[in-house]
Amino acid sequence: MGATRGAEALIEEARALEASNPERSLELYLAAAERDRYNLGAHNALERLRAPQSYGRWMRVDCTIDPRDEIYRFFATHPLASNPIREYLADGWRTLSELMEILESVDRPLTRSRSLLEFASGFGRFTRHLARVLPGRVTVSDVQPGSVDFARAQFGVKGFYSEGDPSALRIPGKHDIVFVLSMFTHLPPRRWGAWLQALFAAVEPGGVLVLSVHNEAHGRELGVSYGDDGTHFIASSESTALDPGAYGTTLTTRSFVERQIAQALPGRPFHYREIAFWNGQDAVVVEG
Ligand SMILES: C[S@@+](CC[C@H](N)C(=O)[O-])C[C@H]1O[C@@H](n2cnc3c(N)ncnc32)[C@H](O)[C@@H]1O
Repeated sequence: MGATRGAEALIEEARALEASNPERSLELYLAAAERDRYNLGAHNALERLRAPQSYGRWMRVDCTIDPRDEIYRFFATHPLASNPIREYLADGWRTLSELMEILESVDRPLTRSRSLLEFASGFGRFTRHLARVLPGRVTVSDVQPGSVDFARAQFGVKGFYSEGDPSALRIPGKHDIVFVLSMFTHLPPRRWGAWLQALFAAVEPGGVLVLSVHNEAHGRELGVSYGDDGTHFIASSESTALDPGAYGTTLTTRSFVERQIAQALPGRPFHYREIAFWNGQDAVVVEG
């Protein structure tokens, strides 16, 4: 019997015993997790039961992972993956420290924010960590069906579904921080201006819009040659759920990014930080 099938059989047995024999059920879930380390059924059961071996116990955040999460799938199929569940969860910590560093550098410390909108939040790779630091102060938004409901139910944040077209987007309220990690890295360049305006409209006076873009030199290292406008769009991404023409992979030069901000948000001061997220994304901070 293959590892996945073996694990599924153990999970089924464990589920049937959960109420009548919780100790045995836990043993079976642990055996399933050992057999198939990528198995979210076993992982989520251990989290739900607050097993001593659960990640939530030592990370002190809700560590449930939605099986529809395409970012988790990215980690699970990554060539360097050795423990994708742990790698996925720890990567959210990394984002927290990277965001805090950027916000400190522009004198807008995260913990002083009264309200933060995490836009393009997916299934909460990062949201779970934010929700612990800013309880009651986080709102999320994404287009993927189920993603916002999952974040609301699991992490206790507020949320609303986004739109494919920024002109149809209605963001409730204004926020000290609007954070958009790795969405412009996927949007067709011709749509950037409208998105920048729609997202900036949700920033409180004195607040900031923080977004990430691909680093120009990193793109060149990957063999990209930029067009005359400073962009290179590939109609393909990690997502199987989204239309690749509207959500692909977007590589850009720094001067393209700076021109877009200046055109869409004229006169707004902004800061550009190279390699601020992961090993290949720059941060742009626009002051509200
Ligand atoms: C690369 S993922 C990053 C997810 C999350 N920010 C993170 O760091 O884990 C990009 C996200 O953008 C979302 N997205 C794409 N188009 C969107 C739109 N029109 N409105 C809101 N989110 C969108 C996708 O569904 C996906 O969750």
